[in-house]
Amino acid sequence: MKDLDLDDIAANPGTAESFEEVVARVASRRRFLKSGLGAGALGFLGLGAGLNGVAQAADAAGKGAQSQSAPSIGFSPVAAGTDDAIVLPPGYAHQVINRWGDPLFTHSAPFKGDASEGGDAQAQQIGYNHDGMHFFPIDAHGGQSGSNSQEGLLVTNHEYITPHFFFPQGVVPANDKWNADWVRKSQHAQGASVVHVRLNGDKGWEPVLDSPFNRSINGNTPMAMVGPAAGHALLKTGADTSGRLALGTFGNCGNGYTLWNTYLTCEENFTDYFGVGGQDEKSVQYHDQAQQAHLQRYKGSSKAADGDYRWDTHDARFDWTREPNESNRFGWIVEIDPFDPHSTPKKLTALGRFKHENAAMTLADDKRVVVYMGDDQRSEYIYKFVSDGRFDPTQPARNRLLLDSGVLYVAQFSAEGGVGDGAGSGRWIPLVLDTPTTDGRKLGDLFADMGELLIKTRQAADAVGATPMDRPEWVAVHPVTRQAYVTLTNNSDRGKDKARWPGGPTHPGVDAANPRAENPYGQIVRWSEKGGDPAQDTFEWDIFLLAGNPHIHPDSDPLSGSDNITKDNAFNSPDGLAFDAQGRLWIQTDGNYTNKGKYEGHGNNQMLVADPVSKQVQRFLVGPKGCEVTGITWTPDQRYVFINIQHPGEGLDVVPSQQEPTAVSTWPDGAKASRPRPATVVIWRKDGGIVGA
Ligand code: FEO
Ligand code: CA
Ligand code: CA
Repeated sequence: MKDLDLDDIAANPGTAESFEEVVARVASRRRFLKSGLGAGALGFLGLGAGLNGVAQAADAAGKGAQSQSAPSIGFSPVAAGTDDAIVLPPGYAHQVINRWGDPLFTHSAPFKGDASEGGDAQAQQIGYNHDGMHFFPIDAHGGQSGSNSQEGLLVTNHEYITPHFFFPQGVVPANDKWNADWVRKSQHAQGASVVHVRLNGDKGWEPVLDSPFNRSINGNTPMAMVGPAAGHALLKTGADTSGRLALGTFGNCGNGYTLWNTYLTCEENFTDYFGVGGQDEKSVQYHDQAQQAHLQRYKGSSKAADGDYRWDTHDARFDWTREPNESNRFGWIVEIDPFDPHSTPKKLTALGRFKHENAAMTLADDKRVVVYMGDDQRSEYIYKFVSDGRFDPTQPARNRLLLDSGVLYVAQFSAEGGVGDGAGSGRWIPLVLDTPTTDGRKLGDLFADMGELLIKTRQAADAVGATPMDRPEWVAVHPVTRQAYVTLTNNSDRGKDKARWPGGPTHPGVDAANPRAENPYGQIVRWSEKGGDPAQDTFEWDIFLLAGNPHIHPDSDPLSGSDNITKDNAFNSPDGLAFDAQGRLWIQTDGNYTNKGKYEGHGNNQMLVADPVSKQVQRFLVGPKGCEVTGITWTPDQRYVFINIQHPGEGLDVVPSQQEPTAVSTWPDGAKASRPRPATVVIWRKDGGIVGA
């Protein structure tokens, strides 16, 4: 999601100690990164990669001391830049595939280039604003990951639409121009696309358009609600009196994938699409006060009505005053089986309801499945889910139920404990009915049952004293050590002491000193669970890096960033995050790309590689103008990496008097006045080596 988003205003009215306050208490800035390995740096056994590696690491747990070795990072770093292009290190090449509007099927309508397609055509084309993504080798099956690096199913999230490029007017469309087909078109451009792709000699990677696997899963695709909240009264609507059959997914931000080869798509800014049907907010009759407070806790503003997309005026289910429970059916993680094109996606209520960024799966020592998740809004929380059942690669049908039941926890960070400076400890608080609240009650006094608690996950986390964070984005788990890293993208509210909504409580933490009193650049924090076992309920954390800008801030200024940030690798707003098989940490940015003021020298959004041992960071890629770089996945042989370019050209901007978008970005098509198009980029080393090594 673009960084400068109105929906990113804080929604958390809590008063728990903020993460910034914790950090400020433990250390001063330049001491953060002097101590080499931080808290809980664990071992390396030279095991396999990704979730395979995690499974082996879980097997190996407790079998002796481990020592982590640094991955090789062999490319020459690229300079920051503002070109309208993909810029890579010497010796690398790339190809653009799966652009917005490209055909999903042989019978798809061709992309017209003037955005005049309607909703039906869009449902048979690649969606908009690509985000999280995963490559499933075509030979993956059951509990076994495949090994085919020439053919697979590429599943890609589509998060939202950029109206002035998505609709034919070519300028920011006035809200009164929205019509029912625009609504359907924008619903069909969100969700996830499944595309069968194949490496085809000199042509490179191509979609297999007659493949039965290709699929658009979008804002109108039927979905099953599963887990503890399924069938709850708060999920029932006029169209679905069972509370078990939702319609569609949208706002699909980051992703995850499972040990049993399914895809997890994460619903983030779902509240943007709901409203009050064009009524005047002041005269709106909500269902009741509890409904309004609940909406506001998720919306993050004094008004529940201010959607830009006008779905609520053309599709009644998005009108809060007519379908008070429809929005409760969004804000979940959705599991998709890409290998069964007729399968019904499942909304996993056990994993909680909030503005999900991504879902990072790992495995506990006893083979329970653990999923880490961030809630991407200012001062929201970090969560983890631990399944009741255990993963068994020989039991594919049982594995499919692992995300249906378990315990959801929320993180509380403490300045106490930890190893060295810039480190501390923390605990995972279970969100179950008998957990004590900070005011001496129990969660069971606040929520009638687990269904209500999960539908109101944020309120439950508020009540138990979870730690408000600086917009948690992606979590990534090291494939061997199972140490978890999270991007905290930035927080422009820092220090402003701003009320959340009229008469509402004050933003927690704005009075915190934090390492930086102001946090326009973001940071990456990591933690290790007790004994290295992700199912434990305590952890040790440390700061991996503080992003900053040494071009404009002197070394003595905390805003220059931590010691591993230099003029050569500076960036802002870390967002996408993933480890590759050898333990390189890939960091993608979604920040300010003006290259001016506080952001001078950062250039366009980019992708960097970090060594988790030395903490060295170097820039691998610069994206085109106005984009964010997000989503990352590899072929099993690590010879190809797929990434996404989201919202190229956005915000740079459009001249409202013109009938077509100003050609600030024409990526990737390049023709004069062509519209920028979100797309996937495949990158490889010309010598056939492992990418990044
Ligand atoms: Fe969808 Fe947090 O960005
Ligand atoms: Ca972001
Ligand atoms: Ca993001």
